[in-house]
Amino acid sequence: MDAELSESAVDAALPNGWLGRHYHFLPETNSTNAALKQMVESGERDDPPHGTVLLADFQKRGRGRMEREWWAPPQSSLLLSILFRPSWPSRRMQWLMMIATLAAAEAIETSTALVIGVKWPNDLVIDRSGVWHKVSGLLVEGEVGANNVLETVVLGIGINVNIGAGDLPETATPWTSLMASVGQPVSRMALLISFLKRLEEYYDALEQGSSPLAGWKQRLVTLGQEVQASVPGGARSIAGVAEDTDAWGQLLIRDERGQVHTVSAGDVTLRQGKAHR
Ligand code: BTN
Repeated sequence: MDAELSESAVDAALPNGWLGRHYHFLPETNSTNAALKQMVESGERDDPPHGTVLLADFQKRGRGRMEREWWAPPQSSLLLSILFRPSWPSRRMQWLMMIATLAAAEAIETSTALVIGVKWPNDLVIDRSGVWHKVSGLLVEGEVGANNVLETVVLGIGINVNIGAGDLPETATPWTSLMASVGQPVSRMALLISFLKRLEEYYDALEQGSSPLAGWKQRLVTLGQEVQASVPGGARSIAGVAEDTDAWGQLLIRDERGQVHTVSAGDVTLRQGKAHR
């Protein structure tokens, strides 16, 4: 077991907030999102509670968006899922994703000298020689109840922390890790604590009615770029300029005929020939 992230070590390091008060550490699991969802399904009402964090040191079947895999070598990265019981209208799920993205970006910037961008919808990216490299991704899975209210949300995040440059997988969007980007190992504990603290602050602010949209859009490297968007199912692909997002974070793409398309989910490729891909 990695002592750095053990239950007792994290308990001792976390401040007295609600996020992470219930923290579970697994040396190995299939997927933290799947394991936390299983805990919710088999638990009683409100058990596990709002703010429960489940972290694993290795995932045998880590899950990414669009049915992809999420892979990291044992003890190299941050792989965790957080349970929220928000009772919000379902459209606000995207805001939860935005605050987690912002909290992770700020935590990384505090632990390293890196500048973090967001590639729509929820990839954290680092500019390496003019090309955006992915360092983190989020997977948000919600259960909507009566009156379109979000009952539970399992928010999973993977951050590539100490993966050696030679061990990074080859993917369409190039990957990097924090260690590969700064040239030295980065403390997973410091990163985790800083992420959870910021996320709790953002969540509390959201409860008070403060929108994360402006801060999230400031980091969005996709805006103003020529993009190709593929939507889930793969039946449709839209090419054009990513002009803006709406209040819910949906991407607005203007095609060459001037028609604006609203994309709520999917993947975008930043088209080649621009400063960034
Ligand atoms: C993506 O970019 O496709 C999202 C990746 C999300 C990966 C994290 S790792 C922890 C949590 N458990 C999972 O199985 N997936 C998420």
